[in-house]
Amino acid sequence: MPAFLKTVESYRQGARTLPGRYYTSPEVYAEEIERLLRTRWFCAGRAEQIAQPGDYFLRDIAGESIIVLRDGRGTARAFYNVCRHRGTRLREAPRGRLAETIQCPYHAWTYTTEGQLIGAPHMNEVAGFDKRNYPLHAVALEEWEGFLFLSLAQDPEPFAQAFAPLIGRLARFELPRLVAVKRIDYDVAANWKLIFQNYSECLHCPVIHPELSSLMPYTSGANDLTEGPFLGGYMLITEPNASLTLSGRACALPLGGDGVPAEERRRAYYYTIFPNLMLSIHPDYAVSYMLWPQGPGRTHIECEWLFRADAPGRADFNPEDAVQFWDLTNRQDWHICEQSFAGISSRAYVPGPYSPRESMPAAWDRAFLAALGHDGESGKGNGER
Ligand code: FES
Ligand SMILES: [Fe+2]
Repeated sequence: MPAFLKTVESYRQGARTLPGRYYTSPEVYAEEIERLLRTRWFCAGRAEQIAQPGDYFLRDIAGESIIVLRDGRGTARAFYNVCRHRGTRLREAPRGRLAETIQCPYHAWTYTTEGQLIGAPHMNEVAGFDKRNYPLHAVALEEWEGFLFLSLAQDPEPFAQAFAPLIGRLARFELPRLVAVKRIDYDVAANWKLIFQNYSECLHCPVIHPELSSLMPYTSGANDLTEGPFLGGYMLITEPNASLTLSGRACALPLGGDGVPAEERRRAYYYTIFPNLMLSIHPDYAVSYMLWPQGPGRTHIECEWLFRADAPGRADFNPEDAVQFWDLTNRQDWHICEQSFAGISSRAYVPGPYSPRESMPAAWDRAFLAALGHDGESGKGNGER
């Protein structure tokens, strides 16, 4: 049986929610920025955003500005947005097309799109100056399923090792072929971890999501990744519905080709990809959520609806059916996450017990604590704040 059809269960008796300080403490938040975002691979965007040589976008992350670009030879690269002369930002506009080179707006030091310094006015008068010693500071970049991942670590864990459980796992859906047709940004007054935990269970679905629950019973499906930084599984869309849309009908050409078995055509997959991506795969479209923590109590979310590139323009293409469905469902989720954050911020909050239908948020918490180097915290939270 292929790995993606195997399911496993991972409920552990005694699992409890995280102590309150993990949601509210500025010290824990600073530790998260350092240990998670400045150290691990994180998702920065889609390769399609830099489709042509010279295309670039800026990504603000952990106090840094990074230029993500496609160089003149077609390779995706990333650099700190910092000139090697006197440190000035090389680009201000959040996205655009570079000329053949990147020229600093201050004193015109000029770099190739591969990062080499090729122009530095009057520096030839400086004894011993060698342009080769001043390339742009590179940031590690890798692509997985059309998503671009960056690492700010000096010596990043090899991507193939860090992402081993995911590499090839979703290949049948042909996600690199998808294009973003719609993006909605959300600002949520909640700690970023609550958004991951909420995404990881559907125990709340009958209460919070009447529309979703009529299409997909919350007890359906099973998980295929149940431990570690990548978690998730599928749920079943009930007949006669064909997708998760307001109408219940498919709204675009089906994802993937013959590699998608018939039994998967009514499945919706939901994966959390630590530390900042959530990925939903429906029969005819995908939705990605990039989470950008703005402080212990604020999270910015970039949400994109992805369709096959050959779907738009056809008579059966109706992306609004999917966009409106998830915009409604997202807002229901963000609202309850905000309410959850407000309650957790109370002096009365203590960790509470997870049920077997919350095995995924419990596993997510374990992965989070392990990544932070706080292993052993999970489940011992009786009375602890
Ligand atoms: S700071 Fe960039 S050229 Fe002077
Ligand atoms: Fe939800």
